[in-house]
Amino acid sequence: MNGIKNNSVFSIIILQIFLVAKATETINTLIPSSCSPFGDSPGVHQLNVSGVGFFDVLCDSQLAGPGWIVIQQRVGGNEDFNRDSATYRNGFGSFESDFFLGLEKIHRITSLQRYELYIHLVDEDGRTYNARYDDFKISDKDNGYALSLGKFSGTIPDAMRSGEFSRFPTNMESPWWYHTHIDCNLNVPYWRRPFWMSISLREVKMLIRPKGSDEEVSN
Ligand SMILES: *[C@@H]1O[C@H](CO)[C@@H](O)[C@H](O)[C@H]1NC(C)=O
Repeated sequence: MNGIKNNSVFSIIILQIFLVAKATETINTLIPSSCSPFGDSPGVHQLNVSGVGFFDVLCDSQLAGPGWIVIQQRVGGNEDFNRDSATYRNGFGSFESDFFLGLEKIHRITSLQRYELYIHLVDEDGRTYNARYDDFKISDKDNGYALSLGKFSGTIPDAMRSGEFSRFPTNMESPWWYHTHIDCNLNVPYWRRPFWMSISLREVKMLIRPKGSDEEVSN
């Protein structure tokens, strides 16, 4: 009698262990849509974003706190940034060097929730600057991947504002958002130097992460 009772209690425990393991497995195999879960393990990770599916991104936790997705990087590589609109839409380059993640991916990621943009800039003399926007978004293809920025903060003047709400140009060499004039262009060929106002840059990184990640981490 006792043996049978003990046996069924044993099976229930085994079943519970199995169910907990199953649930954990489901959580572990869901692929995130941002770099936030990879704050402690920067580098290349896979994301899963509605509308584009699975793709690799470079995550950064060095420049401005944990869990940023790098969407554009210029670190002196010889990647060609004079590309046609299809190439800008899909992305190009290499995570080890210079790259652009792609307008469609950036649009889809920034449609999921509110995102902030952090731009890291290094001038010819090695001085570093940052520019930060608290509600960064790119519209869909039909609306020309138009730029929205939110509020600015940073250690350098706000040079992207003059391109806000403009479409990403489709017939421009080294395309960059601009309206009547252009105050910065981070897609200029490296030998001509990307620029921000009058400052020539030898290094650029554009990072995005869900707005509020800081608060989540410090809580
Ligand atoms: C990928 O994302 C879709 C929603 O966009 C979701 O339905 C699916 O379960 C996700 N798959 C994984 C493995 O994360």
